[in-house]
Amino acid sequence: MLKLTKDISQHRPKVTVVGAGFVGAGVAQRIVEKDLADVVLVDVVEGLPQGKALDMMESAPIEGFDARIIGSNDYALTEHSDIVVITAGLARKPGMSRDDLIAKNAEIVGGVVREAAKRSPKAIVVVVSNPLDVMTHLAKKLSGFPPERVIGMAGVLDSARYAAFIATELGVSVKDVRAMVLGGHGDSMVPVADYSTVNGIPITQLLSGEKIQAINQRTRDGGIEIVNLLKTGSAFYAPSSSAAAMVEAILHDSGRVLPCCAYVNGPYGIKDLFCGVPVRLNRSGVAAIIELKLAPADLAALRKSAEHVKELAGKL
Ligand code: 2OP
Repeated sequence: MLKLTKDISQHRPKVTVVGAGFVGAGVAQRIVEKDLADVVLVDVVEGLPQGKALDMMESAPIEGFDARIIGSNDYALTEHSDIVVITAGLARKPGMSRDDLIAKNAEIVGGVVREAAKRSPKAIVVVVSNPLDVMTHLAKKLSGFPPERVIGMAGVLDSARYAAFIATELGVSVKDVRAMVLGGHGDSMVPVADYSTVNGIPITQLLSGEKIQAINQRTRDGGIEIVNLLKTGSAFYAPSSSAAAMVEAILHDSGRVLPCCAYVNGPYGIKDLFCGVPVRLNRSGVAAIIELKLAPADLAALRKSAEHVKELAGKL
């Protein structure tokens, strides 16, 4: 008789997701539902990752996915992960900026990186915790991993918000909108209208300057708009989609060009800093940083945003 053991999935990639809150559980769900990898969901709260993982596993017969998911309070099961997604940490509440989370989240993310990196020394780390750019810098420092294997999730999210607002404003399909947001994941992020298009048509030809300014500002405020509505936490649907999209690009070795928080040392005149730029993602992580020709105002805004990230990193 055919014996089905747990070994049947030994060739599937493995992704550890740390943090079983709304974002972490959302990332885990999107990864298994797309059959991208087996997932180990880790959280310090007893029962939380186990309960959510079991619940997702029980949805597999309905959703029709074969990927496995397991929850745990320790890191033993995370060994040899291909990717570690870090969502652990506090989320902001109304009245807080992402930067206000730095001290507490540095402690949490620091502990996670130490535990995860030693068990999965070849992994690619995708950081989601805020303040994003500084937490990505910290993950690189504490893991000792080469910079191409430490990436922050922010540009995909900010660009998705930008694209959603553009599509709504123009009444066009989101499928035809490509949008680009660069810089730090904070109030100084830089929506770049010149590189945002509807199926190749620059939005600068479709929308007035005033309209674009308004959409740019709503994009910069995209996170806080949701915090103010939810009152008890921050966004999780679009953030988890964004992190899962990066995981997919990496595992499929796709070469997708996505704005991500990556180590920049030279391009855009930015030196020795993690910051949001367009990158080519493949199975080895950041395969290349793409240096766009930016209008002087956008380049100045990007450098200013990078300056802010540098200042904040100095507070670590
Ligand atoms: C956001 O922008 C939580 O930073 C995240 O919604």
